[in-house]
Amino acid sequence: MSAQPVCLVTGGGAGIGRACVDYFAARGYRVIAADIDAAAAQSAAQDAQRRHGIEAFGVACNVAQWADCQAAAQTALQRWGRIDALVGNAGVQSAGRLLDTDDAHWEQLVSVNLKGVANACRAVLPAMIAQRDGRIVLVSSINALLSPAGMTVYDMTKAGVIGLMRSLAVDHGRDGVRVNAICPGATMTDHHIRAAAARGVSEEDLRRRTQGYALLGRVAEPAEIAAAIHFLISDAASFVTGATLVVDGGFTIKG
Ligand SMILES: NC(=O)c1ccc[n+]([C@@H]2O[C@H](COP(=O)([O-])OP(=O)(O)OC[C@H]3O[C@@H](n4cnc5c(N)ncnc54)[C@H](O)[C@@H]3O)[C@@H](O)[C@H]2O)c1
Repeated sequence: MSAQPVCLVTGGGAGIGRACVDYFAARGYRVIAADIDAAAAQSAAQDAQRRHGIEAFGVACNVAQWADCQAAAQTALQRWGRIDALVGNAGVQSAGRLLDTDDAHWEQLVSVNLKGVANACRAVLPAMIAQRDGRIVLVSSINALLSPAGMTVYDMTKAGVIGLMRSLAVDHGRDGVRVNAICPGATMTDHHIRAAAARGVSEEDLRRRTQGYALLGRVAEPAEIAAAIHFLISDAASFVTGATLVVDGGFTIKG
């Protein structure tokens, strides 16, 4: 990896993605936050630049659109000439049993959580192959492994992300590209804080209600997921590819 590696984070404007922008910037990475919410992407990049004195920028990018992903990768390449790492994180979390779903629900989840993750990979892979070095981490979920009630299409897309990760690891290992997935358990992100607020539940209350989660008795903070993603991207994981790392405070073995 170069002295100042370049990392593209999709969904970098909020939650786990924003935590990655900050975590990677703190470790000397130049970071591109790509998010459908351009203002959020820019604010994440500006915060990281101010806090850690590295170069970072935010770009408007709807991962469901191939042209947006291609433009985000091109911007990084024009500015810095390389892309060392991708955090394929952008995703929508939307509930529904199969019988509750309609075409719009399918279209949103599949186009963002599956095709969008693949679009981001497709945009960065040529540069990584040319460098003969690339590190990709795709953000799946423990929902890919367990089946909580009423999340059918979401769970299906997150299982698909693990399938995509495996295929890319197989196809590009000899190109020097490592590809892994991470399955976070419940994480206190903007998504959950926003959803709770819509139900009239404050963040403080939400934290109280999530006490007792998993073996550690609490949900994750976004920076804890960013730390695990950073491990998979770093040289510390130089022989890790095709792996799925579960980061859930022990939820999947609690039963
Ligand atoms: N929070 C959890 O408990 C949890 C658990 C397991 C997995 N995950 C996964 O982690 C990822 C991040 O979740 P989060 O909780 O941080 O979400 P979040 O809603 O807090 O942040 C998601 C970010 O992605 C952006 N985004 C949404 N659609 C996009 C698109 N089409 N193109 C580009 N950006 C887009 C949003 O604008 C937002 O900035 C998702 O893939 C989610 O499925 C989250």
